[in-house]
Amino acid sequence: MCLLNDSSTGSIYGPPLGVRGVIITSIREETPGVKTFTIASEDSGPIPHAVGQFITLVFTHHGKEERRSFSISSSPELNEPLAFTVKRIDNGAYSRLLTDRAAVGDKLFTTGAAGLFTLPINIAAKQIFFFAAGIGITPIFSIIKTLLHTHPDIQAVLVYSNRTREEVVFYKELQSLAEQFPGTFKIAFLFSTAFDLSRARLSKALLPILLKENALVHKNEMLFYICGPFAYMRMAIFSLEEQGIHADQIRKENFNTNDRAVHKTDPPDKTTHTATIKYLGKEHTFPVVYPDTILQAAKKNGLSLPYSCEVGRCGSCAARCTKGKVWLSYNEVLMDTDLAQGSILTCVGHPVDGDVTIEV
Ligand SMILES: Cc1cc2nc3c(=O)[nH]c(=O)nc-3n(C[C@H](O)[C@H](O)[C@H](O)COP(=O)(O)OP(=O)(O)OC[C@H]3O[C@@H](n4cnc5c(N)ncnc54)[C@H](O)[C@@H]3O)c2cc1C
Ligand code: FES
Repeated sequence: MCLLNDSSTGSIYGPPLGVRGVIITSIREETPGVKTFTIASEDSGPIPHAVGQFITLVFTHHGKEERRSFSISSSPELNEPLAFTVKRIDNGAYSRLLTDRAAVGDKLFTTGAAGLFTLPINIAAKQIFFFAAGIGITPIFSIIKTLLHTHPDIQAVLVYSNRTREEVVFYKELQSLAEQFPGTFKIAFLFSTAFDLSRARLSKALLPILLKENALVHKNEMLFYICGPFAYMRMAIFSLEEQGIHADQIRKENFNTNDRAVHKTDPPDKTTHTATIKYLGKEHTFPVVYPDTILQAAKKNGLSLPYSCEVGRCGSCAARCTKGKVWLSYNEVLMDTDLAQGSILTCVGHPVDGDVTIEV
């Protein structure tokens, strides 16, 4: 039954290019209000994904397309079936639909996996610290279990914050990894309801202490992954930078992309230029007229590209500019190294100084 999407039943969108059907094959309750869904593609074909990435689900509501992304909690490198884990948000439209109503056998639609919160292809770091809060554990869980099995020489430390022990998602699995890899993997659980307030919440004071207690290598040989609410991530990043950690050593994933205003900058060139997009083996060429972004112009020209937040915060729309120049009016995801390699975000990208060619 196609319970969760009306795109196959007369929506003006229909399943757009690049959107495929997947079937829910199992559902497991992790903690109250948090469920893990395993999915398989309808046509049994693979859904390419990497640890730490997210999948974007496409819903339609009264003929309007809406997208939500969920981080992958499984590990393709450990041959686990593709799974994502959802926390029910009280007034949330789709997290409630999934956690309250979805059943095994239901069909969902997805644009597939995306995201840059992944392990580097060649890991130079000797020790990796993971800071997670609440449901922010999802991509980190996928990364940690893969790292431990595939790179047993790299030390891993997880600092995981929750309100109480009962709310810890993947508690048993994490404990069992710590037992399986005793010399390699350490966990510090923090509970905001703890009696000892100095170890209750991750703070600017506690972070350097945890860093010092667990550091086994020089700080230049460390890498950091952070996923949690915006204020938590901001505090962790500031504290790490205060400890002399360089921005390039820190990766972050932001789940709530609507929680604060976006301050975009204007492109220096607002004249119309042509964008040629290479996507799924086809080329599409259309004009991009300011103030439209490349993504908006693509939509107006009937081309549905991958996207989720549309404000430069999730990385779903990341693509590569192979010719010309793209100005990003906002960017919370691409690092200097990504930008230097031609990565762009179509949702905040404008062609400047001439026409552009982009590979998605
Ligand atoms: C890259 C990425 C990865 C993500 N991974 C996961 C994941 O693994 N598991 C998961 O459960 N969610 C994840 N999310 C969040 C998810 O996409 C949805 O935003 C979330 O489920 C809420 O959607 P909704 O339709 O239920 O709420 P909406 O109807 O969109 O919003 C309802 C209310 O909740 C607030 N809200 C929206 N999102 C959040 C949020 N993330 N936290 C707190 N309040 C929020 C809104 O401001 C609004 O007030 C991820 C988001 C991104 C961008
Ligand atoms: S759609 Fe989220 S960064 Fe572009």
